[in-house]
Amino acid sequence: MMKLLRDSIRNLAEIPSITVRKNLSSAAGVPKEMADCVVIGAGVVGIAVARELSLNFARNVLVIESASAFGTGISSRNSEVIHGGIYYPTNSLKACFCVRGRRLLYEYCNKHGIPHKQIGKLIVASRHEEVPKLNYLRNLGNENGVEGLRMMEGSEAMALEPELQCVRALWSPTSGIIDSHSLMLSQTGEAESHGTTFCYNNTVVGAHLEGKQIHLHISETESLKDWDRKSQRYPDVVLLPKLVVNAAGLSSAALARCFSGINRGVIPQSYYSRGCYFSLSNTTAPAFRHLIYPLPEDGTLGVHVTLDLDGQVKFGPDIEWLNDIDDISSIQNKFDYTVRADRAKEFYPKIRKYYPSLKDGSLQPGYAGIRPRVSGPGDGFVDFIIQGEESHGIPGLVNLFGIESPGLTSSMAIAEYVAAKLSNC
Ligand SMILES: Cc1cc2nc3c(=O)[nH]c(=O)nc-3n(C[C@H](O)[C@H](O)[C@H](O)COP(=O)(O)OP(=O)(O)OC[C@H]3O[C@@H](n4cnc5c(N)ncnc54)[C@H](O)[C@@H]3O)c2cc1C
Ligand SMILES: *[C@@H]1O[C@H](CO)[C@@H](O)[C@H](O)[C@H]1NC(C)=O
Ligand SMILES: *[C@@H]1O[C@H](CO)[C@@H](O)[C@H](O)[C@H]1NC(C)=O
Repeated sequence: MMKLLRDSIRNLAEIPSITVRKNLSSAAGVPKEMADCVVIGAGVVGIAVARELSLNFARNVLVIESASAFGTGISSRNSEVIHGGIYYPTNSLKACFCVRGRRLLYEYCNKHGIPHKQIGKLIVASRHEEVPKLNYLRNLGNENGVEGLRMMEGSEAMALEPELQCVRALWSPTSGIIDSHSLMLSQTGEAESHGTTFCYNNTVVGAHLEGKQIHLHISETESLKDWDRKSQRYPDVVLLPKLVVNAAGLSSAALARCFSGINRGVIPQSYYSRGCYFSLSNTTAPAFRHLIYPLPEDGTLGVHVTLDLDGQVKFGPDIEWLNDIDDISSIQNKFDYTVRADRAKEFYPKIRKYYPSLKDGSLQPGYAGIRPRVSGPGDGFVDFIIQGEESHGIPGLVNLFGIESPGLTSSMAIAEYVAAKLSNC
């Protein structure tokens, strides 16, 4: 039982100056282990946080990940776009982290040879009535410090992209695409070589406080599968870390609600919305060379054109609210990523607004991702939520909620911010 976690901790203990030691005495018979920092979740954000804490703050980090590998959640189910930082209210965390994170990310990619391409993006108005919205976005982007934004006449944009139809466009030269798996692989390696241990197949199921010390409850993911949810179950191990960063993506708010002693009033409600992608079949030459986005709608960036690094075109994501996910299912990672082929019929008219020659039958189901939302349909802009002791009352704990787009672009800036927030703990 808990062999993996055991082995990880044993490995940690072999590294000098590490604060992990064993204390097996416990009333319930559940083993307890000391730890320095625990990061919950090995997605792009958790990995960046672990890297930052171990590399720049010399902390000993244990990353607990419920899946059997890093980056199987939101981080491998997105558009892989490096965003400029245009859409978000000035001075919001999303605006600040996106602009800062983008600069850090390009620098990192160049230094570490992470596959990426700064291909630029066109946000397009397909009708004259949309032009004021485009102007608004340009002004907002300028306010946010996004470099190089430029309005283009339709003719100029259409000369750049022969398949495109539009009346005006906003050109964002700093937007690009990235191989997010390579990014995570590289940062995982760096973190590991600075004393981070990744512990897979283990799920954080809750926590309690004893005095000011947080006790994290951890179970092997496998053993949760057949849990009937009614019978009481003890965790396989309890960890006593100095710092905890909850970067559990889709499950972070559900998990925080399982921390007894936390001020639950500040934890946002969880909403989940699925976004599906379709790819273009039968294309020998890619239809587009740049990212093409319509104007934003329904609190999303709209069904857009994105490219992967070998030029394959995909369209997405759409939006479909999922209403049947309770907190325990969320922690058990029970998410449905099915792409229903019939959703394509809603894609055609949306895409044809800017790509009129899209042929019937050419869209093929691709993949789906789920957004970790903290607001429901029709609610306005909601920022990333990053809460420390000042909001929830537990020392050394930082919760990250609602890290949806542009979370990939922002990941290194989020990591900087979280590490700084914890630097005196
Ligand atoms: C459809 C879609 C498109 C997007 N497009 C873009 C884009 O183009 N550009 C951009 O910048 N951003 C984009 N994003 C946002 C970006 O993908 C996310 O912000 C980012 O990947 C979030 O990373 P994360 O590490 O917080 O979450 P995740 O990658 O989900 O990582 C969380 C990890 O925690 C683990 N976990 C969960 N619960 C537990 C537990 N109890 N115990 C242990 N481990 C646990 C999970 O298994 C998972 O591996 C998009 C998002 C979506 C949904
Ligand atoms: C995690 O569990 C899977 C089976 O669910 C197994 O194949 C894999 O080897 C395990 N990973 C580790 C690191 O032990
Ligand atoms: C794609 O190509 C195949 C084989 O060439 C053909 O049978 C099919 O009809 C084509 N589909 C579309 C949408 O053009």
